[in-house]
Amino acid sequence: MKLTGNTIFITGGGSGIGRGIAEAFHKLGNQVIISGRRKANLDETIKANPGMAAYELDITDPESIKSVTRKIIADYPALNVLFNNAGIMPFDDAAKPIDEKTIGDVVTTNLLGPIRMTSALIDHLKAQPSSVIINNTSVLAYVPLAYNAVYSATKAALHSFTMSQRFALRDTSVKVQEIAPPWVDTDLVKKSGDPRAMPLDVFVKETMEKLATDSEEIYVDAIKSLRDNPGSNEHEFFFQFNEVMVADPIPV
Ligand SMILES: NC(=O)c1ccc[n+]([C@@H]2O[C@H](COP(=O)([O-])OP(=O)(O)OC[C@H]3O[C@@H](n4cnc5c(N)ncnc54)[C@H](OP(=O)(O)O)[C@@H]3O)[C@@H](O)[C@H]2O)c1
Repeated sequence: MKLTGNTIFITGGGSGIGRGIAEAFHKLGNQVIISGRRKANLDETIKANPGMAAYELDITDPESIKSVTRKIIADYPALNVLFNNAGIMPFDDAAKPIDEKTIGDVVTTNLLGPIRMTSALIDHLKAQPSSVIINNTSVLAYVPLAYNAVYSATKAALHSFTMSQRFALRDTSVKVQEIAPPWVDTDLVKKSGDPRAMPLDVFVKETMEKLATDSEEIYVDAIKSLRDNPGSNEHEFFFQFNEVMVADPIPV
């Protein structure tokens, strides 16, 4: 995608990857609009980046999505990029009953959220001369982390939805890109400085460089082998990966 001259709406732009990408686009002179539930994070981010705008939005709430997107279109009619970034990652245990709240929250945030955001903005995006939808999945879309089973499943589902959406929009002005991050050191679980996690600034730099291409999928070089693993022989690597992660889990 073109990295300048855009009006970009980012869900979950008040922290972590969303904020990092928001600030990178802001520095390049784009009009950036961020959203999220925590007003303090949004206020802090726009104060640090004069000209950036923010709207409170809960993507689990279809009414909130409808009213906020209507307002953004009215306030920023040149809006041409939607970055579906917001997400949550609770642990679970698929060997036991998983409570309804965990299931509902993860699926509603990580999968239904981006689908509803796109539905609310798609007619507007198609009316622009050049638009982009970016969906933030995860390397775990390709190699599930077993004790984030519902999370990994929502990311695999979002990858699938992204492919269908790309095909359905092939003859329109809307391109669809996917960002599949590796483990990045954010507060998604807990910022820990774990050496296995990629520092946020390193991730943002490589991601922006790759976004500048027209690649359908953006992922850092370090996870290429995980991206390439799915196939009829995927199970052996998947099992080894999860044995390693069980022995040395993500710090919580
Ligand atoms: N960090 C990683 O290792 C990693 C790896 C692969 C993929 N990802 C993906 O990257 C995305 C960003 O995560 P992050 O690592 O940057 O963690 P983060 O700092 O926790 O960011 C998540 C963002 O989502 C927002 N959010 C969560 N629930 C929301 C809701 N119901 N409505 C609106 N906004 C909501 C949060 O804002 P509020 O709480 O203020 O609403 C927050 O700004 C997620 O989709 C995650 O799955 C991260």
